[in-house]
Amino acid sequence: MVIRGVGLDLGTANTVVYHPKHGVLVDESSVMVVRSGLAGKRLRPIMVGRQARAITGRCPPGLLTMRPLHDGVIVDLEVARAFLAGLPRIGGRHWPKWSAVIGVPAGATALEKRALVEAADEAGLRRVRLVAEPIAGALGCGVNPLDSQAHMVIDIGGGTSEVTAFCFGGILTHRSCRVAGDELTLALYQFLRTEHQLIVGELTAETVKCQLASEQNLSLLAQGLDAATGRPRLVTLGVREVTDALRPTVDTIITTLAGCLEDLPPQAVDDILAEGVWVFGGGSLLRGIDKLLEDAFGFSVRLADRPLTCVAEGAAACLAHPEVLAAFDGQVANLG
Ligand SMILES: Nc1ncnc2c1ncn2[C@@H]1O[C@H](COP(=O)(O)OP(=O)(O)OP(=O)(O)O)[C@@H](O)[C@H]1O
Ligand SMILES: [Mg+2]
Repeated sequence: MVIRGVGLDLGTANTVVYHPKHGVLVDESSVMVVRSGLAGKRLRPIMVGRQARAITGRCPPGLLTMRPLHDGVIVDLEVARAFLAGLPRIGGRHWPKWSAVIGVPAGATALEKRALVEAADEAGLRRVRLVAEPIAGALGCGVNPLDSQAHMVIDIGGGTSEVTAFCFGGILTHRSCRVAGDELTLALYQFLRTEHQLIVGELTAETVKCQLASEQNLSLLAQGLDAATGRPRLVTLGVREVTDALRPTVDTIITTLAGCLEDLPPQAVDDILAEGVWVFGGGSLLRGIDKLLEDAFGFSVRLADRPLTCVAEGAAACLAHPEVLAAFDGQVANLG
């Protein structure tokens, strides 16, 4: 069977486009730069993706950075359309008009889903279909969502965190919250400001947070402006104090997600105990979060092999498995 299409994970922080044959075509930040003062006109991005992300916080006058998504969903159709239409230009490629399966948060409303389909249609994608991101992520981890055994997956992204248990093409339990990696970055920014009187940019706060993931880093460096003098300053941070600063936000995510256990049918426990809970999304790379999830859930936790691209891979796999799309169509919009 020849499959002409792509899987697309349009995330709050990153966008991944995956082709079943050619692999990852795009793995870029979900940011674009446009000229300011063009209100009412059709948006034409000057830069899209990583290049646009690099000038976040230092955008010269006359230019504006925009994100197509906030907390996992589209809030402005025109911004999302312009971003999607700009994607093929990355690396100077030209794509044929592909059909697409796009990941959407399991808790997205009908209105939010429609906005995504409209934006993708307008951006030139054909035959757009949606799949719940946890189901796509599970497929990307090699789990069959139509299996008669129960599975549980956790996705901690930039804007949303979700946990979903499913079995035999049906959702057993689902919880989500709009607190994820970006809130962790914000918590770190606030910690640096209040405890170290250091004002840093968003990119610096995120880099320091990501440095924590490497076990080799015994201390972390943050460069910014002294809040009192306004002069540049370098601060050395201990791993422990950064971990502690992020802990309340991590706890909020974990407590909300663990609430799904209330609805989990006891009969599903054996299956999940045997397999463990799959965890993916960039937030799952935060040091120690797997252990905290294990403590809260009581199940072992398995980090996906490719936590940042498995949702797009699974969405692409749906092109060859329309029965997955049919089984989960519209099931989860009103849950959690
Ligand atoms: N090594 C790391 N340690 C901690 N956090 C990380 C690491 N790498 C990436 N992240 C965080 O992961 C988040 C992005 O993850 P991901 O790409 O899964 O989100 P997304 O799919 O764009 O968002 P969403 O699914 O919420 O719409 C960002 O907040 C980023 O800072
Ligand atoms: Mg995501």
